[in-house]
Amino acid sequence: MRKQIAAANWKMNLSWSEAEQLLNDLLSSSYHLSENQQVIISVPAIYIPLAIQKVAEKSGVHIAAQNCYPKANGAFTGEISAPMLASVGVKHIVIGHSERREYFNESDTFLAEKVNATLAIGSTPIFCCGEPLAIREAGTQNEYVAKQIEASLFQLSADEISKVVIAYEPIWAIGTGKTATSDQAQEIHAYIRSVLAKQYGENIAQSISILYGGSVKANNAVEIFSQPDVDGGLVGGASLIVTEFNAIINALK
Ligand code: 13P
Repeated sequence: MRKQIAAANWKMNLSWSEAEQLLNDLLSSSYHLSENQQVIISVPAIYIPLAIQKVAEKSGVHIAAQNCYPKANGAFTGEISAPMLASVGVKHIVIGHSERREYFNESDTFLAEKVNATLAIGSTPIFCCGEPLAIREAGTQNEYVAKQIEASLFQLSADEISKVVIAYEPIWAIGTGKTATSDQAQEIHAYIRSVLAKQYGENIAQSISILYGGSVKANNAVEIFSQPDVDGGLVGGASLIVTEFNAIINALK
């Protein structure tokens, strides 16, 4: 059975004390996780040790980094490597968020290196893909997303790709309050799974969790997550509000 995942992406938000408060509120709130469900909270790098300490006793709750640099160490001022993240207990790293692709010019090949670096230290890449509005309007979103996946993931062996989580996040739905409909999400998630199946076989494709991201809220999560190929969500704005994120966790299948 595929893992069902409620992943938070705090992006560049919250002070130390606000982060601490949000973690306390979330961890003491009334969500229920079953065996195949996980919560992954992707926090700004500076809060990772605090957050890891907070969730240490909570089974099924993990802390993720929002990014890493593909080299292990060296003269890369300001960057943080995957082995450094592993050394503080990080087991999940978000790779290729559209904001990093857009504002930091991260290319498909650079992202492939980050995916490799993440797997090399035994962590799970949460690999983001998704099309801009112009591509959706032209109706070529499937080809666009398939190319992102092929260019950054198809260097992996079958064993390696089985450890990846994919997050489909249409750029036109991020932070806009405009979600994909549940039918649109299902359609492209099924397509992504078919792309994986063609390369790696049906069994592996069926085992990979594919999350939806883009204006997921408490009031639309049940509908989106109920789709057969949607295995949870990667949530930005609503993950900063404890009641919202709590309801989103409870909306997991
Ligand atoms: P919003 O939920 O704020 O639209 O952000 C989605 C996202 O980018 C998560 O990574």
